Amino acid sequence: MDLALQERLTARIKALRDARSTDLAAATYQLPAADYTDASLLAREVERLFATGPVLAGLSADAPAPGDWFSFEACGRSAVLWRAPDGRLRAFVNACRHRGMRVASGHGHADGVLVCPYHAWSYDREGRLASMPGRAGFSDVATTDLGLRGLSVTEHAGLVYVGFTPGPTGAADLGGAEAELVGFDLASYHRIERREHRFATNWKLTIDSFMEAYHLHFLHAETLRPIFHGNLSAFDAFGRNCRIVGVRRSFDALEDGGGLLPHVTLLYQLFPNAVLIYQQDHVELYQSFPDPADPHACEVRVTLYAPQAPTGDRERDYWTRNLDLIDDVTTTEDFAACEKIQANLRAGAVPFLVLGRNEPGVAHFHRTLHEVLGTNSKGAPSCT
Ligand SMILES: [Fe+2]
Repeated sequence: MDLALQERLTARIKALRDARSTDLAAATYQLPAADYTDASLLAREVERLFATGPVLAGLSADAPAPGDWFSFEACGRSAVLWRAPDGRLRAFVNACRHRGMRVASGHGHADGVLVCPYHAWSYDREGRLASMPGRAGFSDVATTDLGLRGLSVTEHAGLVYVGFTPGPTGAADLGGAEAELVGFDLASYHRIERREHRFATNWKLTIDSFMEAYHLHFLHAETLRPIFHGNLSAFDAFGRNCRIVGVRRSFDALEDGGGLLPHVTLLYQLFPNAVLIYQQDHVELYQSFPDPADPHACEVRVTLYAPQAPTGDRERDYWTRNLDLIDDVTTTEDFAACEKIQANLRAGAVPFLVLGRNEPGVAHFHRTLHEVLGTNSKGAPSCT
């Protein structure tokens, strides 16, 4: 993030803090409870957002060098992304053409071929079937017809997007956020660890939980309150995406001309289901995926990336403890709250939720979803 932008944001945050305010939307926003419980809306989300895409598969740092690969699962679909010798990522449907087994799971490195673990059919960099044990058993099939099916993949500003519908999907529209993200050089980061959790909540509630600072001093009274200002954040939309700047208490000691970044957390919501959090010394990526069969369930993945690979056990332990801490706060505080909210919405406890003017990020997310899905947005001002 360039210094001029840091200075502009610093001035904005100072003015908001001094006025005991935060960035405000023009009006409150009424969100029907059914947005989190309706099975037909879920089907539409899965079809329009996840089955077609583009959807963020991960960061370039998930496969930094030629030969590196990683698998990506979303709503029952799976892709394998593999970096070619020319440095470009290729993406394939992660299904062996023999008996449909997933060819690759997790992440790894393969220089020549990817080998299916079931019967060792192997595929080359172009996805072509390279070999199969017991060739005579398949003497009457054309191996040229049995390559991995290709998928579209784009890589920009260290972000990797994939489309699950074979054929071109189009690049993700970052709406200008890429200009900032490029400066973070995310491609140079090192993936420390990814953890996966299943929660009894709609996937959108987990995204909502990141999108405002209003709850910081209440839900996180013991954990984040000592570190962060509450109900103070700067909000900017980048097309379908947005950036929320959370403000550390250390911001109050920031001298004129000092750099903003050590005193804030930059949270980018990457439409539809990812939240990338840029901290001074590391990056966290959250991805939330609906259970395509259940609006009340989702899977959340959290990945921690560090600027450099750990040089030894001490550094490795440091990052593991760091991830333990982050994972603990989100799991036991944020996502635990999401589960309680979901239970209430499922029980019909409230007909709608009210997003405050001080929660513009949450409203932006839901307005955008309705626009993209072509569904009815109940964005009328409420409580006035
Ligand atoms: Fe939170």
